[in-house]
Amino acid sequence: MTPARFLEVDDLSPGLLARVLDLASAWKADPALVPAALEGRGAALLFEKPSARTRVSTEMAVHTLGGHPVTLRAEEVGIDGRESAEDVARTLGCFTAVIAARVFDHAVLERMAGAAPVPVVNLLSDRAHPCQALADLLTLRERLGSLEGRRVTYVGDGNNVAASLAFAAALSGLELTVSSPTGYELDAEVLARARNLGGSVELTGDPYEAVKGADAVYTDVWVSMGDEDEAGPRRRAFATHRVDRDLMDASGGAVFMHCLPAHRGEEVTDDVLDGPSSVVWQQAANRMHAVRALLAVLVTEEA
Ligand code: CP
Ligand code: NVA
Repeated sequence: MTPARFLEVDDLSPGLLARVLDLASAWKADPALVPAALEGRGAALLFEKPSARTRVSTEMAVHTLGGHPVTLRAEEVGIDGRESAEDVARTLGCFTAVIAARVFDHAVLERMAGAAPVPVVNLLSDRAHPCQALADLLTLRERLGSLEGRRVTYVGDGNNVAASLAFAAALSGLELTVSSPTGYELDAEVLARARNLGGSVELTGDPYEAVKGADAVYTDVWVSMGDEDEAGPRRRAFATHRVDRDLMDASGGAVFMHCLPAHRGEEVTDDVLDGPSSVVWQQAANRMHAVRALLAVLVTEEA
């Protein structure tokens, strides 16, 4: 039997996604309910790129589930150098109940998930950031109540965060509008797959049009990890898509969301990031609650 995997949000059914969010909320409200789902077991957390939120939230999630997190930098392991990605996954799976990894190339995660004897979780790849999207949904539920028919506008790069948000929206009934500069739109395959899941995902070039009536405005950096060589052209292209006070005012009362880290003064101005409509620290805190529920479900139930 293939172990469960969470490489993108749509690896969960809508029902299982709702269950993960319900557990995350329940255990956040009453930590005494958190089960010892990983008692006596380990979790391997492998990082090819820097991280603050993902690493610490996942380590704390494993710890509070009774398990032991083993965090490794990729250079210690040597994926496809010292040994193949598949053999890394087989090895880590000898000692741990779950493997979670942040990688440059999503295909490496696919190969690890195909070989691992335990569930594999995506802690960010070039294509997806599904653990972030879980925390985003949890935050939106806390702010807005039911997600069905609520409107989120993502302004910026059609990147990993945008893709996972599209799948999260599709599975939860959120309506998503994505506004990107020409050439940086959401990937056509992602768009088709999210719509195929029943999602309402629209692309609108003009950010002012896109945010009108939104319940939440979301942005991410213009230069993601791995895109540094393109920093100059990206900064020029994205200058029309900065989230500032004017754009937030045009939404008519949206909350502001960002996965963080933020590049203050680029994709978002300080007054928005630090302003009263910002929920970015609630999103950050929810990373732990969301990934804890996910891990508990993956190691105890069929996904
Ligand atoms: N949002 C997020 O994934 O943050 P880190 O890169 O710090 O883990
Ligand atoms: N899109 C960003 C997200 C960081 C959490 C990146 O991939 O660097």
